[in-house]
Amino acid sequence: MAQPWSPSSWRGRPIRQVPEYPDPAALVAVETRLKTYPPLVFAGEARNLTAGLADVAEGKAFLLQGGDCAESFAEFHPDNIRDTFRVLLQMSVVLTYAGALPVVKLGRIAGQFAKPRSADTETQNGVTLPSYRGDNINGIEFDEVSRAPDPARLMQAYMQSAATLNLLRAFASGGYADLHNVHRWTLGFIAGSPAGERYRALAGRITETLEFMEACGITPESTPQLRATDFYTSHEALLLGYEQAMTRIDSTSGDWYDTSAHLVWIGDRTRNLDGAHVEFCRGIKNPIGLKCGPSLPEDELLKLIAALNPENKAGRLTLICRFGSDKIADKLPRLIRAVKREGAKVVWSCDPMHGNTVSTQSGFKTRPFERILKEVKAFFDVHRAEGTHAGGVHFEMTGQNVTECLGGAQAISEEDLASRYQTHCDPRLNANQALELAFLMAESLRTERMKDARFAASA
Ligand code: TRP
Ligand code: MN
Repeated sequence: MAQPWSPSSWRGRPIRQVPEYPDPAALVAVETRLKTYPPLVFAGEARNLTAGLADVAEGKAFLLQGGDCAESFAEFHPDNIRDTFRVLLQMSVVLTYAGALPVVKLGRIAGQFAKPRSADTETQNGVTLPSYRGDNINGIEFDEVSRAPDPARLMQAYMQSAATLNLLRAFASGGYADLHNVHRWTLGFIAGSPAGERYRALAGRITETLEFMEACGITPESTPQLRATDFYTSHEALLLGYEQAMTRIDSTSGDWYDTSAHLVWIGDRTRNLDGAHVEFCRGIKNPIGLKCGPSLPEDELLKLIAALNPENKAGRLTLICRFGSDKIADKLPRLIRAVKREGAKVVWSCDPMHGNTVSTQSGFKTRPFERILKEVKAFFDVHRAEGTHAGGVHFEMTGQNVTECLGGAQAISEEDLASRYQTHCDPRLNANQALELAFLMAESLRTERMKDARFAASA
């Protein structure tokens, strides 16, 4: 029998990655105030996302999750929100077409602030201070004042999330997400990309399809589905005091929902079975993500699945695999087989970012585009071999033209990294690299589909 759960039951469990606030009473005051603030999402939306993810689990849809590694107060600007949203939509169109499947669009945005760190402190020139843990906790500048955890930052993070989500909702339903618009931007990308030739054929087929539909009278005016989209938000449920404050009973179902985002995930560093983060997430009804790294054994994964999805509901649990391009072929098949043996319903998603981080000689943390692509391709190959659905991908990316990941058609070199390296945490794909990845994935998706179609036709 499971122990009783409440939004605060995590407080009795061992916890990792927790900041030490110098003034705990001030923290309690902020959390108490946040409890009275409006929810950022409605429980019904979280249920819609669960239903979308259930389709992914059953092989009938694809998941695209992406956004900043860490949002920051400094980069809070409507253009940044717009550009991230735009690239995610462009990628979605390409993937929808190539896979002939609906794409569930999930931003790592409007709440993705807190970061797990490998050490509690950082030492520079003999001075030791608390590590930077994300803008909702402390400041990135290396001085005593910035690095002290400050509860007022939680309020600012809430306000920023609310304003971000407001703009995203407006874009998603107000006409900006019109399929024709989105495709027009993509044609612009192709015209300017050194690898444009390679992507032109696919883009041309999308153009023709839109023209054909138009000729048949299926236009954004006649068909609202072409004009609007559903866009969901997600972040790591790391700072549990904040997540608890945002957790409310949904009056329509009587269930608890974490209203800070549609989906929250548990990180690879905080997924211990008896720990606070698993305890908190098991009781909320939102769809949940679980990061799976190379150190996660099969039996441990099965126990986590049992704890987080005891009713084996499709769409409840997304396994976000982040092994590294050199480890995925060894690690992923074992997890897939264990999950299959157990009959557990999950979404399989691939995070090709976190296992492929390297440091350059000049000290930049970066990720080679080739290794990111290699892990994604291996993810598709393994699922193909195991007979399971490669359900989705999870990218750290931005709509800005940053130089943080190496390679891609722009051929960003080690020397280029310094010119626009802006991330507050991990290196992100820039807009062109992200869209390029979608085109390269589209080639795999389409080849698979053609094979399936031929097989079905001849069977
Ligand atoms: N409503 C559909 C969907 O969200 C089609 C659509 C409209 C769309 N605008 C979009 C798809 C932008 C991708 C991107 O899938
Ligand atoms: Mn990251």
